[in-house]
Amino acid sequence: MFTDRTAVLAVTAGIAAYKSPIIVRELKKANAEVLVIMTERATEFITPLTLETLSQNPVAIGLFDRGNTWSLEHVALADRADILIVAPATANIIGKAAAGIADDLVSTTILTMMSSVPILIAPAMNNRMWENPVVRNNVATLKKTGVHFTGPVEGTLADGRAGMGRMADVNEILSMVEKILSK
Ligand SMILES: Cc1cc2nc3c(=O)[nH]c(=O)nc-3n(C[C@H](O)[C@H](O)[C@H](O)COP(=O)(O)O)c2cc1C
Repeated sequence: MFTDRTAVLAVTAGIAAYKSPIIVRELKKANAEVLVIMTERATEFITPLTLETLSQNPVAIGLFDRGNTWSLEHVALADRADILIVAPATANIIGKAAAGIADDLVSTTILTMMSSVPILIAPAMNNRMWENPVVRNNVATLKKTGVHFTGPVEGTLADGRAGMGRMADVNEILSMVEKILSK
C-alpha cells in the first residue's frame, strides 16, 4: 500500500506511546519506509530499541546527536518524508507546534516540515487537557495551516476513567495516512 513511501513517525511523551510500535509495524506491513523520532520524555514510556527493531532503522532523539549512520537531522528528514505522523501527540507538542517553537528534534522537525510535507497529528491526553481552551485554540491554529488531525476519541483514559482524549485507533490513523498520501 505504501511502497516507495517514507513515513516519519514522531513519538511524544503520552501514555499512548505504547501503541506507537503497532503503528510502526502496520506501516512496515504496508511496505512503508519508517523513520522514528522521539522526544526525550517519550523514552520514559517506550524504548528506542523497540522502535528501532520494528522500523529497522535507527531512532533519533536529540537535536544535536551525531553518530547515526543515516542522516536523521530535521532538514534531511524533511527531504525524505512523504508524511509526518505525530502519534501520540501530547498537549505540549501541539502547543509548541502551534506557537512555532523548535527546541528539540520533534518540534524542530514539525516546524521544518509544516509548509512542505503533510502532517498528521493524533492527540492523546487526559480529557481535562483536551478540553482546555488553550489546547483547543492550538489545534484550531494548526488546522488552519493545513495540519491534519485524527481523534482523539471517547474511551477509557490512562487513569481508568472514561472521557474524550484517547488516541484514535491505529486502524483509523493508518486509513488517514492512506487518504493523505493518495492526494
Ligand atoms: C504518567 C504520565 C502520563 C502522561 N500522559 C500524557 C498524555 O497522555 N498526554 C499528554 O499530553 N501529556 C501526558 N503527560 C505529560 C507529558 O509527559 C508532559 O507534558 C511532557 O512534558 C511532554 O513532553 P513531550 O511533548 O516533549 O514529549 C503524561 C505524564 C505522565 C507522568
